[in-house]
Amino acid sequence: MTVTRKVEHQRTDLGYVPVYATGVVEQPWSDYSATDHEVWDALFQRQRELLPGRACREFLDGVERFGLGAGGIPKFSELNEVLADATGWKLVGVEGLLPDDVFFDHLANRRFPVTWWIRKPEQMDYLSEPDLFHDLFGHVPLLLNPVFADYMQAYGRGGMKAFAIGPEALARLTRLYWYTVEFGLIDTAEGLRIYGAGIVSSKGESIYCLDSPAPNRIGFGLERVMSTRYRIDTYQQTYFVIDDFEQLFDATRPDFTPIYARLAQRPALAARSVLDGDRVFTRGTGEGWASDADA
Ligand SMILES: [Fe+2]
Repeated sequence: MTVTRKVEHQRTDLGYVPVYATGVVEQPWSDYSATDHEVWDALFQRQRELLPGRACREFLDGVERFGLGAGGIPKFSELNEVLADATGWKLVGVEGLLPDDVFFDHLANRRFPVTWWIRKPEQMDYLSEPDLFHDLFGHVPLLLNPVFADYMQAYGRGGMKAFAIGPEALARLTRLYWYTVEFGLIDTAEGLRIYGAGIVSSKGESIYCLDSPAPNRIGFGLERVMSTRYRIDTYQQTYFVIDDFEQLFDATRPDFTPIYARLAQRPALAARSVLDGDRVFTRGTGEGWASDADA
């Protein structure tokens, strides 16, 4: 019998070191404990109350269409039936963080990897790596949106290309993912709304990203985003705002190879930067920021 592993970062003298898993696993649904289900329910309930008026309509619609609720951890197999009909995406269970090339291959083939295990009760507010709640609640609802679903696949294809070109190209593409899929905001008639998975799965950042005067909120531009470093240890210093998901998908249309070559000639921008040409929604006060910890 094979046991489905839980692969986590490890604490070493150098801090947390990512440990990668590569295989696809069946979701061991009957092995979840009562506590696991309670953690899902509590996290779900908290975000469900917080996100109306904060998350974009497409995300909230996705939560509804999947019938996500506080009735315990969802079964991937049931969500896959909804996804197959809507956009042809499929969730696959994974044991932890994937190496870049494996991750890109999944996306390029419309498979979204979801970590099978969920955080512990004492990790409700912060976890240093993705778990089931982040991957599923954060990412999966938007896979029902056809334009966003196509963007994710295009990103996976772009990732495979960048991986072949080299680490510099990969770093720039990773910034695109970070500032859109994970931490993106969208401009709507009702005001700025959240679509990034890293935000919608975090109570604190769901509030901070819209309400705090500290961060910059700047209009999305492909090369601007690819040039900008980011924070992995704190809330973001800058959020990039798209007009709609078509803008995001259109941005991935060109071949990035000449863009990578061009950007290689320029220094990376600090996460806190505001440039003359930026479309500034709000210029942050920078309150509470450390100055030297960009990734
Ligand atoms: Fe994520």
